[in-house]
Amino acid sequence: MGQNLSAAPAKRPTDRETFIVEAMTIEHVDEVRELERRCFLTPWPKESFYYELERNCMARYIVLRRVAEDAEAPAEAAESPGLLQRIFGGCNRVHSNSVVGFAGLWMMVDEAHITTLAVSPDHQGKGLGELLLVAITEISAAHGAKMMTLEVRPSNLIAQKLYEKHGFSGHGVRPHYYSDDGEDAVVMWSEELGAAKSRQRFQELRDSLRRRLTWESKL
Ligand SMILES: CC(C)(COP(=O)(O)OP(=O)(O)OC[C@H]1O[C@@H](n2cnc3c(N)ncnc32)[C@H](O)[C@@H]1OP(=O)(O)O)[C@@H](O)C(=O)NCCC(=O)NCCS
Repeated sequence: MGQNLSAAPAKRPTDRETFIVEAMTIEHVDEVRELERRCFLTPWPKESFYYELERNCMARYIVLRRVAEDAEAPAEAAESPGLLQRIFGGCNRVHSNSVVGFAGLWMMVDEAHITTLAVSPDHQGKGLGELLLVAITEISAAHGAKMMTLEVRPSNLIAQKLYEKHGFSGHGVRPHYYSDDGEDAVVMWSEELGAAKSRQRFQELRDSLRRRLTWESKL
């Protein structure tokens, strides 16, 4: 995965934020690529996302969207509150149309390889990177993965801390892995997803995140 370009101080979300985790579709790609440009040194070409979403049967990608309950309703929406309510399930909730994070993985037999994971610099430090990791761990387990793995830059200490919090550890280096600047990659592996200790830690971390964040899953 690419290099992080920003680090944000820890902050808490406002009480009025709700996040939705859902499958990435072609409609999300422009927003995702804009976000990617802000998060990584070398973004993927657009075609890579199309390939991943349309042709790679091993791939699973998700986005995290923010629903702002305090957002101003657009004029046409205000004239049709029934429609809004049907779409967003609440009188004042307005879809902000904003992707604030995304992640992806490849299911390779019984291993899940995390290919990308990023949170908008405006929303970092709120637990959203962890929420994406929780979501892709659940997807991996549901598809029968026994372990998860990823590559991360040695310089990307924030990402490493996130993965370590969820039981990943470094197991080797791929020299000059990143073609843009030749940086090595640290290869990280999770513990066995099915192991009792690992499941218990995951549940505790997920419960703790639930107390911190409000999210709905549409996966
Ligand atoms: C890495 C990234 C996804 C983390 O997302 P985030 O939403 O900011 O992280 P969270 O708020 O969910 O934090 C989860 C954990 O990450 C670690 N972490 C997050 N920010 C940190 C910081 N500034 N310093 C140290 N550790 C930090 C902590 O372990 C934290 O757990 P805690 O809240 O119990 O302290 C985000 O920084 C990002 O998108 N970076 C750019 C893209 C990138 O590098 N992706 C990873 C490629 S491998």
